[in-house]
Amino acid sequence: MIPKETIEKIFEVADIVDVISDFVVLKKAGSSYKGLSPFINEKTPSFMVSPAKGIFKDFSSGKGGNVVSFIMEHEHFSYVEALKWLANKYGIEIEEKERTPEELAAQGERESLFLVNGFAKEFFEDQLLNTQEGKAVGLSYFKERGFNEETIKKFSLGYSPEQRDALTNAALDKGYKLEFLEKTGLSKTNEKGSYDFFRGRVIFPIQNITGRVLGFGGRTLKTDKKIAKYFNSPESEIYNKSKILYGLYQSKNEIIKNDECLLVEGYTDVISLHQSGVENVVASSGTALTEGQIRLIKRYTNNITILYDGDAAGIKASFRGIDLILEQGMNVKVVLFPDGDDPDSYSRKVGHTELVDYIKNKQQDFLHFKASVLLKDTDHDPLKRAETIKDIVKSISVIPDQITRSVYIRETSHLFEIAEQALHNEVNKLLRKDLKKDATQSAPEEVPPEEQQALLVKKQDDKGKYSLEIQERDLVRLMVQYGSQEIPVKVRNESDEEEEVAYFLSQYIVEELLNDELQVQNPAYQRIFDEFLDGLEKGLVVSDKHFIQHHDAGLSQIVIDISTPKDVVSENWEKKHRILPTLEISRIKDAATQSVAMFKLRVLENMIVDHQEKLKVSLESNDMDNLLMKIRDLTDTRNIFAAKLGIVVTR
Ligand code: CTP
Ligand code: MN
Repeated sequence: MIPKETIEKIFEVADIVDVISDFVVLKKAGSSYKGLSPFINEKTPSFMVSPAKGIFKDFSSGKGGNVVSFIMEHEHFSYVEALKWLANKYGIEIEEKERTPEELAAQGERESLFLVNGFAKEFFEDQLLNTQEGKAVGLSYFKERGFNEETIKKFSLGYSPEQRDALTNAALDKGYKLEFLEKTGLSKTNEKGSYDFFRGRVIFPIQNITGRVLGFGGRTLKTDKKIAKYFNSPESEIYNKSKILYGLYQSKNEIIKNDECLLVEGYTDVISLHQSGVENVVASSGTALTEGQIRLIKRYTNNITILYDGDAAGIKASFRGIDLILEQGMNVKVVLFPDGDDPDSYSRKVGHTELVDYIKNKQQDFLHFKASVLLKDTDHDPLKRAETIKDIVKSISVIPDQITRSVYIRETSHLFEIAEQALHNEVNKLLRKDLKKDATQSAPEEVPPEEQQALLVKKQDDKGKYSLEIQERDLVRLMVQYGSQEIPVKVRNESDEEEEVAYFLSQYIVEELLNDELQVQNPAYQRIFDEFLDGLEKGLVVSDKHFIQHHDAGLSQIVIDISTPKDVVSENWEKKHRILPTLEISRIKDAATQSVAMFKLRVLENMIVDHQEKLKVSLESNDMDNLLMKIRDLTDTRNIFAAKLGIVVTR
């Protein structure tokens, strides 16, 4: 349990824009911030953050919430994990006693894996920098490779000693469980006991964008060809190779600044480029480029430049990666390094300026790159040419934007001296084929559950009673958004004269309902009413912040959903948030009185239905008379309300 005061402190200190900026590039838009959804692949920003309200809203996926729910959603954390993450980010101490192994295990599994990895990272670093063996073996290797101390620290490089179980023992001593050491792949167990997976290797921690350690790469220092040069952590709950890019944590800001991401093969390429002052670089390390990795990059830039070693055998295999990038509507360029050099070795040979110039001057767009690779050593073989053109056209056809496609078609037409129209026809043929495939593959569109719900609540139930959901929600929305606005309300004073007094809007609504002894049906809304009432009894109006930061995450979610409805398009959201506070008092008052009247009208109508049902089954004439009278009274009252609201009475 995290103490309530600490939770409040976390909410107070955690700035939602600052936190979300760790994951999404945000641009200021009026009083809010805008960016590309981190949950859905999109081209136009529909992700909004309101620092004033402390909330985010993603109009593409419908997700929304406060700073804690963002972390929960984005990192797949539990509530407590998210709070801890934020506390850690802002250096807020969570008073917890020394954790026993049992307590460690009780924490979420993901968190346990992160903790074990965090411990291992520090252990390896300490071994590298502060032990005899580490310095003599690991550190001297890195220095030989040309990595300086600053670089070594920046990438948290480490060393796993030769001793069979150095890390495993140290971790067990500290109370970390073997279960998690094994799940992260740090320890393995055989008949001789548990041992360190990475022993005798230099260590490259693999971090997520916030710097937490997901896994490790370990390079052997032995030259024995039978020993695998690199070991990598196995996939785990937190380590998913296809969604990780090595170096993103260290390169993120430079990628944004340069509006370009360089993509290399491995750890050493990333590190060497950094040391040469080229810091917008990540590695797909060990896997073929995946869509997940590309989308990670897309959060920061639309431009990817792939750096290949000149003799890379896998260049043709890399074409798939290029198409994946194009499919995402991103721009892709390619730089080939001179034969025998990879980015790592080349950057160590030349200085910063030469390296930057080389990357700039040798860039080819995918079209020229593919052409040069495919046409290499073919001596103008016409068949080979035709195949190459078809291959390039296929790449062009996956580009989502039509104008971009046209530009590349024109370029191809020049390059191969072939009519543009012929290329257009070919592209269109491929597009049609894709369309057909999509049509047969995709299931009929389903109405999402929330929308189904919305459709339902508009309807009456089988007896003709209304669901009050819409009216109740509207009342809650007004209270949350304008609860502390003062509106003039006519009341009768002691001498029975009409008098206008200022009421808080929330006070007005609460009293209207209390006076008629009306309750709302939705228990969550009732709780919101009760909290308003509690506050009003103490003479204060609870703010929307109170609910947005509510310890009951469900309640907080409801309030956030209510104040950012799903049906407004993103542009309007921004407008809404700026315009709402300046709404005239009279408009707010009208909205409140109408909303109350509408709620009462529906309640009355439901009461009428109830009485009619009773009438159907009542046998005593006395009862029937009473019921008929009651129904007449209710109908009269309801007609008065309806007339006030300008609703035509239909039954
Ligand atoms: N790599 C890998 N797994 C391997 C081999 C390579 O993940 N089995 C990745 C590493 O990230 C490495 C990059 O590919 O940084 C480059 O490979 P390579 O040049 O073979 O590794 P180096 O450590 O640079 O070895 P060398 O000193 O022999 O160049
Ligand atoms: Mn190398």
